[in-house]
Amino acid sequence: MKKRIFSGIQPSGMLTIGNYLGAIKNWTKLVDEYECIFSVVDLHAITVRQDPKELNERCISLLAQYIACGLDPEKCIMFMQSHVPAHTQLSWVLNCYTYMGELSRMTQFKDKSERHADNINAGLFTYPVLMASDILLYNADLVPVGHDQMQHLELTRDVAERFNGIYGDTFIVPDAYIGKTGARVMDLSDPTKKMSKSVPNGMVALLEEPASIMKKFKRAVTDSMGYVKFEEGRDGINNLLSIYCATTSKTIEEAEKEFEGKGYGDFKKAIAEAVIAELEPIQAKHKELMDNKDYLESIYKNGAQKANEIAQGTLKTVYEKVGFIV
Ligand code: TYM
Repeated sequence: MKKRIFSGIQPSGMLTIGNYLGAIKNWTKLVDEYECIFSVVDLHAITVRQDPKELNERCISLLAQYIACGLDPEKCIMFMQSHVPAHTQLSWVLNCYTYMGELSRMTQFKDKSERHADNINAGLFTYPVLMASDILLYNADLVPVGHDQMQHLELTRDVAERFNGIYGDTFIVPDAYIGKTGARVMDLSDPTKKMSKSVPNGMVALLEEPASIMKKFKRAVTDSMGYVKFEEGRDGINNLLSIYCATTSKTIEEAEKEFEGKGYGDFKKAIAEAVIAELEPIQAKHKELMDNKDYLESIYKNGAQKANEIAQGTLKTVYEKVGFIV
């Protein structure tokens, strides 16, 4: 039997090349080897205020982007998280096996609390428990994510081990899968910060116009050293090199050689061109899919049916173990 993968992305803004290089591109490479389940994690998105109409449109567009990036609906289960009630049901149970102290240490909670100081809601705090439920419901062996999700993965493992310790083997304790390149794409205007859907200035969106992509790379923060080499402390150059390599599948050494003796202008132009070329077919496919909403609906409905079947099985086991009458 194939091992299983689960991963998801929040429909909380425009997908960035960080999401693509850190997550989706790796997913596409794993599809043949694993049984794959990918969710549009809409329940997670409302921990931050969302405009209902925009959220609705983003959910369907995100599914279309999954497919446009090369995920084959024939080979993987794709669904909307809110269509599978077991996510919130398991989340309640696991909330009772997760400590306040653990959740207080989550850096994403601390970051988002700072950015949304007027809306530090309970959902934002318990968000990692919902994420653990997403993964454990499907008994995923592997969770391909970017580096920023490592802490949540660790918590997922701790909660699974704790539950297994009390009730006997119930959950598979999942491993994270972090790609060799692209796991940490940084903001182009401040390369000490993660590129994020919610910080538009230094991010490049998957569906961004070529001219705008070129402009953003040309303006990307570098340094005054004047040569292209991956070196400690050179956040801007290191980030651009990483983006180039994750996009073209070249090694850092190959890229350094390619840009030997060249200035930052040529370097930035080449990265922008590589990114534009990579995104062009994705953007075209996304446009085509968005004109076929019936098809997209059939994918997420079919996906929810399959996901529900698996999730219900796990939830029943958990309910039995904790002593509920099932
Ligand atoms: P989210 O929606 O913030 O990001 C989705 C995926 O993209 C990766 N990522 C990045 N990788 C490299 N560089 C970046 N700048 C960058 N920004 C984002 C993330 O690591 C992630 O893999 N909590 C999750 C969503 C989630 C989930 C899950 C993931 C909910 N349930 C279960 C895996 C399994 C999140 O907010 O990702």
